[in-house]
Amino acid sequence: MVVKRYENKIAVVTGAGNGIGAGMVKRLLEEGARVAALDIDVAAMEQQFGSDERVFILSCDVSNKANVDDVIAKVVEHFGRIDVLFSNAGIIGRTSLLETSEKDWRRVIDINLNGMFFMNQAVLRVMVDMGIKGAVVNTSSCAAFVVSPNTGAYAASKGGVSLLTKFAAIEMAKYGIRVNAFGPGASATRITEGTRFNEERNRMFLSNIPMGRYGEPEEAVATALFLGSDDASYITGVTLLEDGGFSLF
Ligand SMILES: NC(=O)c1ccc[n+]([C@@H]2O[C@H](COP(=O)([O-])OP(=O)(O)OC[C@H]3O[C@@H](n4cnc5c(N)ncnc54)[C@H](O)[C@@H]3O)[C@@H](O)[C@H]2O)c1
Repeated sequence: MVVKRYENKIAVVTGAGNGIGAGMVKRLLEEGARVAALDIDVAAMEQQFGSDERVFILSCDVSNKANVDDVIAKVVEHFGRIDVLFSNAGIIGRTSLLETSEKDWRRVIDINLNGMFFMNQAVLRVMVDMGIKGAVVNTSSCAAFVVSPNTGAYAASKGGVSLLTKFAAIEMAKYGIRVNAFGPGASATRITEGTRFNEERNRMFLSNIPMGRYGEPEEAVATALFLGSDDASYITGVTLLEDGGFSLF
């Protein structure tokens, strides 16, 4: 039996076109929510959710503050409120420190960290103005705590996401709004294809995961939806790792 923790809730999901974000939309619908699905990949969202009237699909580049503010205004106009935000859009960058260009560095920080700030601020303003005791779940990563070779900009961006989450949690507590993050390890989405489909890297990576396997996107989704629900009613400011033990040593 599906537990309907999101009945009558309005949820916003960013990065909703693929991987973990698309999984969030599907499970939120199963649990009773109506969802604003945001991504730059509109075709992927249309293909999966285009025929579902509970889903409001919007093109949104989270790294563009004006675009974020405009899109969130449209969501409020459409649904009348926002109860929960899953700020999940993100990209990986893979270059060594010495080879990372200014453009590469800025792109990862712009989408993963600045985009997270723009989206959190826009939605939290709505919740505070409307007196909604809502929840925010930011997608961080185990890379916020441990660094893998060639992913420095990514790790720095996710470290920032986890601290932005604490910053927002402290300020929002008095409004009854919880702000948390979760940190997947290696989830079997297209972001990890570069590792999973490379025999040598795959072997090395799996040997560093105590549970000996990649996470399923559904497992990441379950972690996020726990944090966004009333089941986590006394939890705020954490980054809940969901990594099969990857960051234990
Ligand atoms: N898959 C993993 O192993 C893993 C591990 C740790 C953290 N994460 C995080 O999980 C989140 C989702 O990743 P995923 O694995 O589902 O990857 P994915 O590539 O399948 O999905 C990411 C989505 O974000 C969208 N996106 C990219 N740039 C955007 C922008 N500027 N504005 C709006 N949307 C944008 C993409 O179009 C895509 O639909 C990311 O924040 C990622 O860093 C993933």
